[in-house]
Amino acid sequence: PRLAVIVVAAGSGTRLKGGAPKAFVGLDERSILHHALRGVFAAASAQVVVVVPRGFEGEALTDARDAAGERADLVTIVTGGETRQASVAAGLAALWADVEIVLVHDAARALTPPAVFDRVVGAIDAGAAAVIPAVPVVDTIKRIDAEGRVIAAVDRSELAAAQTPQGFRRDVLEAALCDAEADHTDDAAAVASAGHPVVTVEGDAVAFKITTASDLDRARALVSERPS
Ligand code: C5P
Repeated sequence: PRLAVIVVAAGSGTRLKGGAPKAFVGLDERSILHHALRGVFAAASAQVVVVVPRGFEGEALTDARDAAGERADLVTIVTGGETRQASVAAGLAALWADVEIVLVHDAARALTPPAVFDRVVGAIDAGAAAVIPAVPVVDTIKRIDAEGRVIAAVDRSELAAAQTPQGFRRDVLEAALCDAEADHTDDAAAVASAGHPVVTVEGDAVAFKITTASDLDRARALVSERPS
């Protein structure tokens, strides 16, 4: 395929306190990873590279095969790294030769609707080298110092919250991560610091990242309301 989706699922999930690496915590009888992969397969026909913590490769393969159905041969499982960026690099190393467009998606954004994937791929097809889904920031944001004192207000109209899947031309992402000196919390930051413009498409509130226990409750409630 021309398209690959790297699903990063190698985080420890310490903020979630779910007792397992985050991607393997259940939303119903199925894991966060399973739901994330169901979304990926519903959205795209792509090589799907799943990046997981060491020791969880077998469990991930079971989840992935189950989510992929007859497209199980499109799945590659790789072992992640210490940081998200290292995990993305491990995923890139497993891409097939014919892949030209890479989406990087957080497994923790397990309920991301297919329309978000479509908008991201559409922007790349329209000529962008890098694209992120973004949503407006609803909170009032302050810049603070190390003691927690407010230094400045930040104009909310200039802010957007970045989601995933983030889409890239493969050559652009590979070069940016290869040259990255800092550790970036998302891939668009590495690509932007390599000098490429990054465009945005509309994200979706449902693409929130399951991070805290209350996010997990919200995700479980959404899943239980879904028609199966
Ligand atoms: O830690 P954070 O919530 O920002 O992680 C975002 C995504 O990156 C998660 O899906 C997590 O599994 C993944 N990740 C990873 N490897 C790491 C750290 C995070 O794949 N070392």
